[in-house]
Amino acid sequence: MTNANQSGSNIPALGVGTFRLKDDEAYNSVSMALEVGFRHIDTAQIYGNEEAVGRAIKDSAVAREEIFVTTKVWNDKLNKAKFVNSVKESLTKLQLSYVDLLLIHWPSPENGESMEEYLGELLRVKQMGLTKEIGISNFTIAQIEQAVSILGNGVIATNQIEVHPYLTNEKVRAVCNTHGIKVTGYMPFAVGKVLKDDTILNIADKHGVSAAEVVVAWELAHDLVTIPSSTKRKNLETNFTAQQLRLDADDIAKIDALDRGDRQAAPDFSPAWD
Ligand SMILES: NC(=O)c1ccc[n+]([C@@H]2O[C@H](COP(=O)([O-])OP(=O)(O)OC[C@H]3O[C@@H](n4cnc5c(N)ncnc54)[C@H](OP(=O)(O)O)[C@@H]3O)[C@@H](O)[C@H]2O)c1
Repeated sequence: MTNANQSGSNIPALGVGTFRLKDDEAYNSVSMALEVGFRHIDTAQIYGNEEAVGRAIKDSAVAREEIFVTTKVWNDKLNKAKFVNSVKESLTKLQLSYVDLLLIHWPSPENGESMEEYLGELLRVKQMGLTKEIGISNFTIAQIEQAVSILGNGVIATNQIEVHPYLTNEKVRAVCNTHGIKVTGYMPFAVGKVLKDDTILNIADKHGVSAAEVVVAWELAHDLVTIPSSTKRKNLETNFTAQQLRLDADDIAKIDALDRGDRQAAPDFSPAWD
């Protein structure tokens, strides 16, 4: 259920991801996504594709103000000496004067940098006008609580976390909802894994659609923002069309029940997951 005080409500519910996409692949994916109708693009400093993403935005026929652009500050830029300059560098690569959303990509590994310090820098960057909204990513329940106690209510637009049918992450989602923080679900297809699931394929058959549409529609039905990526125009079109699919309560319950804690993004610096 949507919390009335929720921030992040102007984040387009469906975006396009760019993880792993480099150079021409990133440029082409973002160019096609904008042509297909996507107006929300997710990148990050560590993806090494901000320059290609920026060129695709610049070369597109879509006005900058119509596009919601997210980037993320990487782990080695969280300290005071580097944070602001790293954001300025991202903006230069993106050829933008501001991003719409700036995230802390991961909580500082082993608390190497203090959260007070890097969230303070995040807020400062917002006050400087370099981003419209700020948020967090991969934060655990304890870290969400700490972040809210530092920044206050209504400041954190989103927590971007892994959410797909094999990792529904319900506990973290519930805590975000309590604090009015929108949840962005990343890796909605578990990088392709869930698209082969029999339950999902049966639901797809029932509706005469693809497994990808079912998964995107499931994320949207849960009021999540979701950011599937694709290098193919046909798949981008399919993912965009998924906004028209309405699953029934039985479909949603069946997909919810597929949760098996199967996490795809678990680098060695991950926090202690809930
Ligand atoms: N905050 C974080 O720490 C974090 C971590 C991971 C990811 N993310 C974000 O989340 C985004 C999404 O995650 P992801 O890209 O890793 O994985 P994903 O979106 O779950 O899956 C992408 C894979 O699905 C395939 N695919 C896409 N649409 C399809 C369709 N309609 N039919 C069949 N296959 C389809 C793609 O292949 P094709 O290219 O062949 O279509 C690609 O192999 C990332 O790009 C990134 O922006 C954030």
